[in-house]
Amino acid sequence: LGQPCIDIAKLPKDTGCFTYDNGFTATASCKSAITYIDGDAGVLMYRGYPIEQLAEHSSFLEVAYLLMNGELPTEQKFASFADDIAHHTMLHEAFKQFIGGFRHDAHPMAMLMGMLGSMASFYHNNHDYDDPEQRHLAAIRLIAKVPTIAAACYRYSMGWPLRFPRNNLEYVTRFLHMMFEVPSEPLQMNPVAAKALDLLFILHADHEQNASTSTVRMVGSTGANPYACIASGVAALWGPAHGGANEAVLKMLNEIGSPANVQNAIDKAKDKESGFRLMGFGHRVYKNFDPRAKIIREMTYKVLNELGVNDPLLDVAMKLEEAALKDDYFIQRKLYPNVDFYSGIIYKALKIPTDMFTVMFAIARTSGWVAHWLEQQADPEQKIGRPRQIYVGHDKRDYVAIDKR
Ligand code: ACO
Repeated sequence: LGQPCIDIAKLPKDTGCFTYDNGFTATASCKSAITYIDGDAGVLMYRGYPIEQLAEHSSFLEVAYLLMNGELPTEQKFASFADDIAHHTMLHEAFKQFIGGFRHDAHPMAMLMGMLGSMASFYHNNHDYDDPEQRHLAAIRLIAKVPTIAAACYRYSMGWPLRFPRNNLEYVTRFLHMMFEVPSEPLQMNPVAAKALDLLFILHADHEQNASTSTVRMVGSTGANPYACIASGVAALWGPAHGGANEAVLKMLNEIGSPANVQNAIDKAKDKESGFRLMGFGHRVYKNFDPRAKIIREMTYKVLNELGVNDPLLDVAMKLEEAALKDDYFIQRKLYPNVDFYSGIIYKALKIPTDMFTVMFAIARTSGWVAHWLEQQADPEQKIGRPRQIYVGHDKRDYVAIDKR
């Protein structure tokens, strides 16, 4: 269970050999007690608790506490944690000028990355991150402020005035309230919307050493400022092979356009020459099914039914799911819809704009990133991350003057 075959750190330092593991498919970069995944069995656990149980009984904020602290909170501890988070939701006034510098059509992930990175300038000089209390405070600030920043990015792109966080509301409802005009969009104020978002946040909270978390740890291994570490996680998450997949799913559905074109899209995805993949299908670790997708699939149908959503694009999505699940190419390669196939559909149903999808993911994943950063910083064995390479360049050659080339 998660035991390394060989612990490289225990080998003599001068063996002169190292492993080539393109894409780190078989290399453990750290020891971690946060999240356990068994990709073949479709198991995901946070701190030993199965994701199915957390999805059914917990809330995102409780899960954030669990990831950071290792144990579920008592009622009293949870109340104090929620209070702490609520008291750190505000942004410094200077952020208004900072956000005002972005182009009106800037991608919200670019804004989020910039704004989180800029927090390093607010909490740097007077902060000693060798002190566990300061590290804890940074984690609280990040979890608390990321929804405020995300909502500000959206409102800025719409040309709307920014809204203050209403701290008497719960985490997810507070975010929805900051993001949308109320009550012009009663859809988003429906408790089913808040429940679906809370569930998505739980499912996206952590996923062990994925690309963005590994990036946070890599940057963290240098002793960099925690806000800079989390901004680097946002950068890694943005790519379409990672968190950007939920946005790519909607773009793909738009391109497919109608249920009648679904079979063509499937045929194109099977043709390697086309370079086209079905976005939201397949996973690096889950080669059987994505347990998060199972949970969210049910919620997707609930959202569509209870909110009475009628969108032709969602018909395309449902037809695609049905057709791919029956197709031999996808069955043989164990390519199933992943969590991001469904998250995109739910966001679309809640009228969250497509370019905000990955930002939603980032809000949730901030809790995992900070948990990993805290774990790493407290680990006396932690070392700077410094992979090696297989050099495939030229042998030694002599410099040629520019007029002789
Ligand atoms: N559509 C069509 N074919 C696919 C797809 C897809 N979405 N995904 C994988 N394949 C095929 C590959 O062409 C390959 O076929 P082959 O064996 O005939 O050569 C085989 O399935 C294995 O694919 P790999 O690329 O080796 O799988 P890997 O584990 O490296 O990639 C990944 C996983 C990146 C998620 C991939 O499945 C993909 O690109 N999916 C679409 C993007 C996506 O949804 N990403 C979100 C991941 S979830 C998350 O980040 C939260």
